[in-house]
Amino acid sequence: MRLSILSSKGGVGKSTLAISLSKELARRRTDVLLIDRDLIGYASYLAGIRGPGLVTSVVEELDTKPWREIKVESGSVTILKYFGDGPRYKLDIEKLHRQRNLGERGWELYRGLLKAKRYSFVIVDNAALVRPEDDIVKHELDTFKGIYPDMPIWQIFVSDFLDVDIKETVRYANLIGSVELGSVLAFVINMVYPEISTRVNHLLDQIVNALKARMGLTIPFSEKVYQYNGDFESFPILPEVGKMATKIMEMM
Ligand SMILES: Nc1ncnc2c1ncn2[C@@H]1O[C@H](COP(=O)(O)OP(=O)(O)O)[C@@H](O)[C@H]1O
Ligand SMILES: [Mg+2]
Repeated sequence: MRLSILSSKGGVGKSTLAISLSKELARRRTDVLLIDRDLIGYASYLAGIRGPGLVTSVVEELDTKPWREIKVESGSVTILKYFGDGPRYKLDIEKLHRQRNLGERGWELYRGLLKAKRYSFVIVDNAALVRPEDDIVKHELDTFKGIYPDMPIWQIFVSDFLDVDIKETVRYANLIGSVELGSVLAFVINMVYPEISTRVNHLLDQIVNALKARMGLTIPFSEKVYQYNGDFESFPILPEVGKMATKIMEMM
């Protein structure tokens, strides 16, 4: 199952959820691929990947390995640093388009990684506001489908608790179009504090219905994950993510 984590705004907790969920699924004896498409590469950084990401490695023709496998109890998470080199990604992509041989080499590298293991879960941590028709999303997904043609694809939308952000995230979910196909797995409202949780849960029920999502989830503010700066291995798994993992395992 491929799970794409999406939001209309940065800083709402996509990477935090992506890391927590990857680790929780791996703990349940599965092999997980975490595609870090964050432009800053937070998950990759925590995983100790300090070199350039896949796209930059290919453009610069570097012989680096922009991924790392980390054992989590009886499973594993392989973190792929896809971008992570900041704003140069635009120039890198342009260059890949101009020089087809470079592009081909990149996709060969990516296909190699996808074939190295039979992943049960692929979690994609995105930048804010990506659209399926964006070049790099489309190319990556086409290559992916070439290797995993039957893997179901689900979306997880994340928002913080502000009304304006929740509204914008719902609009984004409708805009990027998979709502019609019924492929919204979850709508997550993050960093909810106790005083507003009743109101937020009520709103969440309405959103889950409107988006035909399989589940809604609120995640409280957690001191333990806030601005976490340790290593991937010790990243705290949010307890609420356990519920999501159970639901996901049931859907397999
Ligand atoms: N539930 C939470 N409780 C406390 N802090 C959180 C929570 N979720 C995310 N954060 C913090 O918010 C900031 C942004 O989170 P991040 O996952 O990087 O967001 P995004 O990937 O959407 O940009 C980080 O400092 C992170 O530690
Ligand atoms: Mg992020």
